[in-house]
Amino acid sequence: MIARLNIAMDRKLDELVFALLQNMTIAVCWEKLARDLGVSHSTLVRWVEKLRSYGLEIRGELFTGYRLIRLPDIMLPKLIRPRLRTRSLGKDIYHFYSVDSTNAFASRLLAHDRKVVDGTVIVAEAQTAGRGRLGRPWHSEPETGLYFSLVLRPKIPPSLAPLFTLATAVAMHNAVERNTRLDVDIKWPNDLLVNGRKVCGILAEIQAEMDRVNSLVVGIGLNVNHSSLPADLAERATSLRIASGRMQSRIEILLEFLEEFEALMDRFEGTGQASIVEQWMQNSSFASGRRLKIDDGVRVIEGLTRGLNPIGALRLETHDGAIQEVYSGDVVSWT
Ligand code: BTN
Repeated sequence: MIARLNIAMDRKLDELVFALLQNMTIAVCWEKLARDLGVSHSTLVRWVEKLRSYGLEIRGELFTGYRLIRLPDIMLPKLIRPRLRTRSLGKDIYHFYSVDSTNAFASRLLAHDRKVVDGTVIVAEAQTAGRGRLGRPWHSEPETGLYFSLVLRPKIPPSLAPLFTLATAVAMHNAVERNTRLDVDIKWPNDLLVNGRKVCGILAEIQAEMDRVNSLVVGIGLNVNHSSLPADLAERATSLRIASGRMQSRIEILLEFLEEFEALMDRFEGTGQASIVEQWMQNSSFASGRRLKIDDGVRVIEGLTRGLNPIGALRLETHDGAIQEVYSGDVVSWT
């Protein structure tokens, strides 16, 4: 089953990177590397080439072996797992050097294996077909961004699913603020903004029956260490590095996010729903008193924001004083 998901190669590359990481001061003898990894010399050479094509600097030293020249900022599960402070989130991690989309992989994983555990994380260094909301693409250049999906299996009716994306935004808001000291805003429903520009987007995809959710894939794209963004995005988007003037650790932010998110989920039963809504409102300048135009796919509604309802819909006061509850949509303009 799993083999058809094409994950074996990335796992082997992870093992090779890990072996090289542990011996950064010396060249690791290629015979030992090949033996430890259970592959031939020519396969090892091919793998090293592949890693180089992903931007890792590996020097081949004649008669001795291979050496990493620069410590790569790589989301290796072996580096993440020992530092996880969560109870269950992130216990299963799939790591890719390049994948079409971590959300698409999560769907394939769920289709192949119905027992995918709650809290499985899929993280990629780069995406070739990263997808955003409303069919837009998500700019996913290698190593700079944090691109990951979380597979959740909450025992809830579909109507409560939007709370999970609000919780994702709150957890990422807290993780970024704590790691970078930047001031982060949440734009409804779940974009993160720094200095009024987007740094993070969330794409939630649900598989559900009428009365219960089977799985929820929450994909998160965070612009971390981009030194610049493509011209068509630069006006509206930024990265944590551009905004803070320094490089930020993707692993630290991921670890903090998982911990924050798990804490919110643990409280979900009981007072948790209210607490997600409250925390979202506390951290969003869009929660109240902002004039927005929202395209909900059917019509454009304009009004003043008046908080969220208990299941996360935005309350908009329209010109006639009526309150409209908007469950999903795109903010097309705001003041
Ligand atoms: C948005 O449009 O704001 C949502 C962007 C979500 C992007 C992330 S990157 C990781 C995951 N995989 C995808 O293909 N999309 C999400």
